[in-house]
Amino acid sequence: MNPEYFYVTTPIYYVNDVPHIGHAYTTIAADVLARFHRHLGHRVFFLTGTDEHGQKIEQAALEKGETPIELANRVVARFRSLWRNPEHPEKALNISYDDFIRTTEPRHKDRVRDFFEKVQSESIHGKSIIYKGEYEDWYCTPCETFLTEMQLQDGKCPTCHREVKKLKESSYFFRLSEFGQILLDGYQSHADCILPQSRMNETKSFVEGGLKDLSLSRNSFSWGIPVPNDEKHVIYVWFDALFNYMTALYDSVKDPEECKKFWGNSLHLVGKDILRFHAVYWPAFLHAAHLPAPKMIFAHGWWTNDGKKMSKSLGNVVDPYAMVEKYGADPFRYFLLAEVPFGQDGDFSIPAMERRINADLANNLGNLFSRTINLVLKQREGVVPHPDKDQMMRPDAMTYTALIRFIEGDATEKPALLFLTAALKRCAFSEALRHFSSYLDRANDYVDKMKPWEKTGRDPREIDTILFSLIESLRLISLMIYPFMPTKAQAMWENLNLPGKISDIQNLSEIFKWGLYPAGTTLQKPNALFPRIEVKK
Ligand code: MSP
Repeated sequence: MNPEYFYVTTPIYYVNDVPHIGHAYTTIAADVLARFHRHLGHRVFFLTGTDEHGQKIEQAALEKGETPIELANRVVARFRSLWRNPEHPEKALNISYDDFIRTTEPRHKDRVRDFFEKVQSESIHGKSIIYKGEYEDWYCTPCETFLTEMQLQDGKCPTCHREVKKLKESSYFFRLSEFGQILLDGYQSHADCILPQSRMNETKSFVEGGLKDLSLSRNSFSWGIPVPNDEKHVIYVWFDALFNYMTALYDSVKDPEECKKFWGNSLHLVGKDILRFHAVYWPAFLHAAHLPAPKMIFAHGWWTNDGKKMSKSLGNVVDPYAMVEKYGADPFRYFLLAEVPFGQDGDFSIPAMERRINADLANNLGNLFSRTINLVLKQREGVVPHPDKDQMMRPDAMTYTALIRFIEGDATEKPALLFLTAALKRCAFSEALRHFSSYLDRANDYVDKMKPWEKTGRDPREIDTILFSLIESLRLISLMIYPFMPTKAQAMWENLNLPGKISDIQNLSEIFKWGLYPAGTTLQKPNALFPRIEVKK
């Protein structure tokens, strides 16, 4: 059977800044999807990286007395070590990317020039797509965006509210004004290509409002990819940056047929602030180069901190390194995706995070885990008993109705894997996690009601069946939480004495079935999975 392909990307991050919660958020979300698809046996290509050109980086380097590439090299190391840290894995977010692209790499620069030339040779409605002219407008350097007088708010950038400056320079232009109908037709024929729906509506009205040609080059600074055959100009940083999704894919995957399959099921995760670049400019650039649009763009919301916008000047930026150090990567990953529906804005607060970690992870999951293993140690000397079919099917045994039904489904409930797959397909991470939590509730309720510690007057086969059902639930739980909390899932897997690495699994649909735990296995004392956080009064 042909494998399915899945290509997921994060934005490539500017290297003038250290990683913050926004970078971590998108990257964790992409990692969850990549891990889930790998478990399903799909061919996955997960790309992240850094955006290293442009005036903003040139300026930041100048202020720090470095060359732009020195600055980029220093900051890129910070990003990489937050994603993965082979010497100290516990300090990183454990991001399983397949490729990390830097826009300063020759493999990227050369291809971007090729794309520029390709587009340059094309025309639309009888006019060349790229033409040379003179640009005069406002420019916001931190956002690397041109703005019209109308777009300014109190004379400042409407996005970051910083000073803008007037730019007049000779420039290459992209004939975006001719692409409106092509873009609208594309949105129409691929209803889910921009999600959530509200972002699709926003994008459509922007395009319907009329598009202006886009300046595609700059000549007042030099930190960028030179325009082919006119080296005084550097290519506009967004043209350069957006093509990373193509340059890295073609460089890494090589086989053009495979690349097409990946592209055919591609998903760009982006923050809402950079939606227009991805949903308007990018498909237009691709169309101009005779390439199809990405399959889906999902724009997530923004985090505030205790109700306030995060900014360096306010000093309230959430530092992901500090969060990982204090709470561990997995609880932090879990919190970000469980707390707020992906797509909506959310407010970050330490008390909210501590409350959630204690309630969902320490109490609900951690307790179920340790209490179940302790019961097997105490009642069966650590050996997981065989279930008894008759006991399982007893109408009062609860096993079938509660736990198995969740996994296997019935007329009233979707099988868990179908539910999770459907939720993750829509990037509904918090919904997937709520469903997962409801299984924990059921399992805890099952222990409380079945009281496997009460032996008097009971058939030992009933207790065997209860204990087996609980251990089997833990196996299924570790599979369910793996994409979100890979390290904790592996720790559970090992504690259940299951073979191999959970990350190597590629046949989830075969093993995500009730009853496959190998009875007769001996268990060791449980690890403390999620220690309770002492909450300061
Ligand atoms: N370099 C461009 C992207 C080019 S992609 C071809 C860029 N880089 S960035 O470093 O500024 O990254 C910004 C990403 O972080 C965006 O997706 C943005 O939405 C996200 N966030 C920045 N602050 C954020 C929050 N406070 N909350 C959530 N995400 C936010 O843009």
